[in-house]
Amino acid sequence: MYTHQDLSALRNQSLKLQGWIRQQTFSPEMEKTLRRFSSWEVSELIFQMNQSTFRGKLAADPSLPGGEVEPDGRQRWFSLEEVNELRRRIKANRKSLMPPRPAGKRAMRAAVANFKGGAGKSTVALHLAHAAALDGYRVLVVDFDPQATLSHSMGLTDVAEDYTVWGIMARDLIRETDRMNNRASAAESGTALPQRQLPASITDMGLGDLRVADFIKKTSWPTIDAIPSCANAAFVEFASAQYRHLNPEWSFFAAVSRYLDQIPDEAYDLILFDCPPAIGYQSMNAVFAADMLYIPSGPGYWEYDSTTSFIGQLAEALEDLAYGFDATLPTGKISLPKVFCEIRFLLTRYEPGNALHQAMFDAFKQVFGDHVTQHPVEMTRAVEQSGRFLSSVYEMDYRDMTRETWRRARGTFDNAYKEFRDTMIAAWDKLEDDA
Ligand SMILES: Nc1ncnc2c1ncn2[C@@H]1O[C@H](COP(=O)(O)OP(=O)(O)OP(=O)(O)O)[C@@H](O)[C@H]1O
Ligand SMILES: [Mg+2]
Repeated sequence: MYTHQDLSALRNQSLKLQGWIRQQTFSPEMEKTLRRFSSWEVSELIFQMNQSTFRGKLAADPSLPGGEVEPDGRQRWFSLEEVNELRRRIKANRKSLMPPRPAGKRAMRAAVANFKGGAGKSTVALHLAHAAALDGYRVLVVDFDPQATLSHSMGLTDVAEDYTVWGIMARDLIRETDRMNNRASAAESGTALPQRQLPASITDMGLGDLRVADFIKKTSWPTIDAIPSCANAAFVEFASAQYRHLNPEWSFFAAVSRYLDQIPDEAYDLILFDCPPAIGYQSMNAVFAADMLYIPSGPGYWEYDSTTSFIGQLAEALEDLAYGFDATLPTGKISLPKVFCEIRFLLTRYEPGNALHQAMFDAFKQVFGDHVTQHPVEMTRAVEQSGRFLSSVYEMDYRDMTRETWRRARGTFDNAYKEFRDTMIAAWDKLEDDA
């Protein structure tokens, strides 16, 4: 017979050997660095410009970054910093190459969510983040999933749980409880509001003093930052129930939304959330903070079935919030009920030649109408393999596979991104001015 003490002993045993196991199985060469992009990619795929026009512009202005010539000798290869400098300085037909960004608005926030495991959430989030960065946007990704797939893909493998969504939530609890207590003591009417006491085990963690920037980590992509996750952050699902008990007035679902409101509007263009395969405290925070909901689903019947359950349960959870918190509307920029600028379903792992997939795509369109994206993300070998190596097709060097395989994989994510971008730009108009 075994109890929690045995589990605890096994865990201690594991911790003792963790460093050694890591050394044996996790090679330091796996540290992520971002490759350079060839002049072909920069001109035709990134700037959508004729290659010879691009070469002409480089030749005409020697002060422009010139990239590096690699041993194959034919192409120049540019770092993303160089690509971004070129983007700022070159014009195409007198038009700026900078991507559209409305003035006076904060970053667009999009959650990639579904409670079906393996639906393709992390793959979609990773590719949208990379495609947006190549398009010139500054991106922040927030990993709400303690499986930390997206964090690992971004090269963030050494993460302390204090600096995850769990830390953001605990910090918010401390700050919100302080705010409510100050409000209670400031109330001069005879009916004093209750003072809430948090136990020292929570207040002594020092999370209340963390600054907004403390949670944000750099990645190998110069214009992508991340708030990563780690396995220990799974505890937030258990701890949050206790936190709510300690302060029932705490609007637990808005913790991350309030946190993101403290980031300067101009710091990012897009904030992308990768969600865990569950409806829980973390995914509710993601959904509540999101302006756009992107729901990936595989192309099979059971995935359709579980996507339907997901939106049903999400609807109920959001309705409960609106009801439960109506009277004590918390501060910050949040309001209830939660309003989304856009909700989209995106089919993933789609095979265009598969009759069953086509039928499911038609069914999705029939049921969800314009909420279904026109371009499903196709099943691709390159990405199937990248699953193991945790790289996006944008990070892969096309010389490492057949050009056709790479083009196909990139093409399907490019199409999904372009549609996402159009949706995002339209949604930005619906977002209230922050100025
Ligand atoms: N378009 C695609 N083509 C080929 N393989 C894919 C594609 N999208 C996802 N996969 C593979 O399917 C698996 C699950 O994908 P992913 O991790 O993105 O799903 P998820 O919804 O984030 O899963 P979880 O629910 O565990 O978070 C991975 O091995 C991934 O490589
Ligand atoms: Mg995932």
